[in-house]
Amino acid sequence: MRILITGANGQLGMDLQNALKGHTLYPFSRAELDITAGWQTIETITKSQPEVVIHAAAYTNVDGCESDPDLAYRINAVGTRNVAVGCQQCGAAMVYVSTDFVFDGKKKEPYLEFDEPNPLSVYGRSKLAGERYVQSLLNKFFIVRTSWLYGKHGKNFVRTMLDLARQGKQFKVVDDQVGSPTYSFDLAKTIRHLVETPFYGIYHVSNRGAVSWYGFAKKIFELAGMDVSLEPTTSDELGRPARRPAYSVFRRFALETSIGDEMRPWEEALWEYLKEIGMDGISMDGKTP
Ligand SMILES: NC(=O)c1ccc[n+]([C@@H]2O[C@H](COP(=O)([O-])OP(=O)(O)OC[C@H]3O[C@@H](n4cnc5c(N)ncnc54)[C@H](OP(=O)(O)O)[C@@H]3O)[C@@H](O)[C@H]2O)c1
Repeated sequence: MRILITGANGQLGMDLQNALKGHTLYPFSRAELDITAGWQTIETITKSQPEVVIHAAAYTNVDGCESDPDLAYRINAVGTRNVAVGCQQCGAAMVYVSTDFVFDGKKKEPYLEFDEPNPLSVYGRSKLAGERYVQSLLNKFFIVRTSWLYGKHGKNFVRTMLDLARQGKQFKVVDDQVGSPTYSFDLAKTIRHLVETPFYGIYHVSNRGAVSWYGFAKKIFELAGMDVSLEPTTSDELGRPARRPAYSVFRRFALETSIGDEMRPWEEALWEYLKEIGMDGISMDGKTP
């Protein structure tokens, strides 16, 4: 299959390139394809004649989006529109990677793909606007919402925690936001399975299980064999510019009913990730958690 990837040098973009080996890939970094340039985006996509476009480019700085909404909408909404029009013109199916932050977090049980979004932040609203462009412009699309992503390439919560711990800093982590950490390689493999099918629609894809950021941090240090004194805090005390959902756990209903839900528990995925980056510690004794 001929597959074009936007944001190919990002955290997910790099794992997609690995997970999609065997297909003919057209990976475009931001320098090679800036999705905010409308005509250039359409031309680049149509020239490559892809059967599938995986749109992994985004402005992912959640607090940055809050302070610069124009930039957030320009990249996440209008940029996504440009990619969707490119797909429309060459008949490619599109995968748009979206987020758990489209939900307000008021639900007390896992969110279904059929639940109504109600984003709390500019980031969430701009990503939802991107979803709406995709839905209104195309009929062959996968909207893949994911959450709390970390991977080998790029900045993420796991790396931040390990860096802070190595610096011997005292720090607090929020305990009143619950979600599902997701290893970007597991997400990339699931996207590979999806694009090999015609089961278009909205998908929730996260690793299995749920935890707070504080619980996630504790597990990182436990699996890394690091003794770190960590304190829980609240979102109010931390006072970050963008509001985040208090609860954004997914039910992977569309996966369950289409290709099967093979997402593994988040602790197992985290353990493999720590091994991959050489941080699995000595406490695990070769066993999975
Ligand atoms: N990270 C998470 O926790 C998380 C959670 C839920 C959903 N998601 C979604 O998952 C997807 C992948 O996220 P990620 O973690 O891989 O993010 P990432 O590492 O920040 O990668 C995003 C990539 O998009 C590129 N980009 C930014 N503006 C662009 C533009 N105008 N034109 C072309 N490329 C542009 C970035 O390039 P530069 O680095 O050069 O700016 C970067 O390479 C995104 O759609 C994101 O919204 C992420």
